[in-house]
Formats: sequence, structure tokens, C-alpha cells
Amino acid sequence: MTASQISLPQSDYEHIELSPLTLHIGAEISGVDLSAPLPPEVRDEIASAFVAWKVIFFRGQALDHAAHVAFARLFGEPTIGHAVFGHEDEFPEVYSIAKHRTANSIRGASMARAWTDWHTDITAAINPPMASILRGVTIPPYGGDTLWTNLAAAYQALSAPMKAFVEALNGIHRFEAPANGAEKANYRDSIEKRRLEALHPLVTVHPVSGEKVLYVSPAFLQEIDGLAPRESQALLEFLWEHSVRQDFTVRFKWQPGDVAMWDNRSTAHLAPNDIFQSDFDRQLYRVTLVGAPQEGTDGRTSQAIAGAPILSAKEELATAKVH
Ligand SMILES: [Fe+2]
Repeated sequence: MTASQISLPQSDYEHIELSPLTLHIGAEISGVDLSAPLPPEVRDEIASAFVAWKVIFFRGQALDHAAHVAFARLFGEPTIGHAVFGHEDEFPEVYSIAKHRTANSIRGASMARAWTDWHTDITAAINPPMASILRGVTIPPYGGDTLWTNLAAAYQALSAPMKAFVEALNGIHRFEAPANGAEKANYRDSIEKRRLEALHPLVTVHPVSGEKVLYVSPAFLQEIDGLAPRESQALLEFLWEHSVRQDFTVRFKWQPGDVAMWDNRSTAHLAPNDIFQSDFDRQLYRVTLVGAPQEGTDGRTSQAIAGAPILSAKEELATAKVH
């Protein structure tokens, strides 16, 4: 792969200071106070940097839950904190990511493969969240970094015959508890209460940039529709390994107050397990924005196999009251 094969994001901004962290993904934005109202021109440049750089970082912000949700609202409609695992009591849009959260109780399990735990948020839904905005509150002195990979760069780095082959395929994404049974009963219950399964094109077209994206989310993508089981497994293992090559990734070391905002339509991410082998505490909070079904290169769209779309927090709460 050479740089000429990959379209690089532009870095001309007038109202924000932007420092790219790698050639293809990740940029730090400085000179912006996210707790204050943002002028439209600043908001627009943040929106454009978000699509171009796929994950953007703001250091040392002073956000509480309300300000976090208000910032998120500038870019879309917040979802319920987590469609499967719930939300903070007073703030339905906020999902707590604590070191000892329920979903993390299985984290002691050994990594089966290099791509284990890489995922794009909730791709088992027909409309996975379009963006995730994560804020760090309690951060360990070391360990607990987060990594992102650029799935558009991963697509572009495939050979022409492989691109043509995968563009015609659809992946089946499923939210399910791991088969090893190490998880706690309430973790499995939460997943079974809201079963989510969706078919997405294996190559999607980004609705804003038009980039083609290798839409793989290793933790959710279980099989390729129409292939024989062995064909599906072999192809998926190749694509997963390819999509998390270090060439396409950025690694972020958190400090208290940092905010990361990523495009869930063109990236996958990973929280390494290292802090679970330490006594360090960690507390992050996440807000996600309502997304749309994905579109393939020929215009076909995602289909739900099980489960309802993820709606806005307001709509989900209204529906919950009715039933
Ligand atoms: Fe995630």
C-alpha cells in the first residue's frame, strides 16, 4: 500500500486548530471549549473534521452529563444510553462505561485472536448509532487506552478483485453473549431481552464523504450471507485481520476531561483489556447519536433480522411507557 492509493483527509480549517495524529485517522482539536455554546462556523468545522479524520479528540474539557448531551445534540439526535445495557438514571442519553460495568464482567477471558473485541458500536441493529462521543472522567495513570481503525482505508487497501467480490456480499451482525458461558446471568438476560440482528452490506458507502467502507465489526459480524460456513469463516478471518492492521489505526492515551468523538460509519474501535489486570479505576461516559440503515455500493440497504431500530432517547422512553 502506498499513500497514493488512499485519499488523505484535508487539514485546512479556519476556526479550529487541528493536529492530525496519523496520516489516515485521528486528529486532536484545540482552542475549543465544548462547555460553552459553539458558533455555527466552529460546529461546522468540527463536523467536517469528524467525517474526514473519523475520530477527533478534545483535551481537558469540563463537561458534565448535561453539557455532554448538549454538545452531542449539535450533531444529531442522542439515542437511549445503550439499547441493550441501559443508561444513567437522570440522563437517559448517557451510558456509563465503568471498569466494573456488567458488560465488562467477562473481560477476564483470554484474547482468542488479534481482532477479538474490535467492534463498531451496536452493528447488530439495522441503524447502528452514527457517532459516539466518549468522555473520560476517572482515568488510570497508565493502561486503558482506546484504539480506532479506519475502515475506509482498509477497503481501499484491498486488491481490485477482492473489492469487487466483497462489495456484492452482505454480513450478518448479531448481538449475542459469548459461547464460553463466562458471563454473568444478567448480562445474558439483557441481551436476550432486546435481541438484535441485522444484515448489512459488507461494503457500505459513507453518506457524507461517499467513501467506500469495509463494514466489518468483528464482535458483531458473525457470518457472510450465502457463503458456506467454512467459506464465511475463512473470509471473515482474513477481513478482520486486514481491517485492524496497524497502518489504519490510531491509539489514544486518555487524560481526565478528554472527549473522543468518532464516526461509527467508517471506524471500528477497541478497548484493550489491560486495566482489568490492575487495581486502577476508570470511568467514562458515552452518548451516541441515532444512525440510519447502511447503504451498499449498488444502493441496497441494511435489513433487520430481529429487533427494532434504535430510536432517540425521547422516542425509546415514550415507547417503553406504552408497553
Ligand atoms: Fe464500543
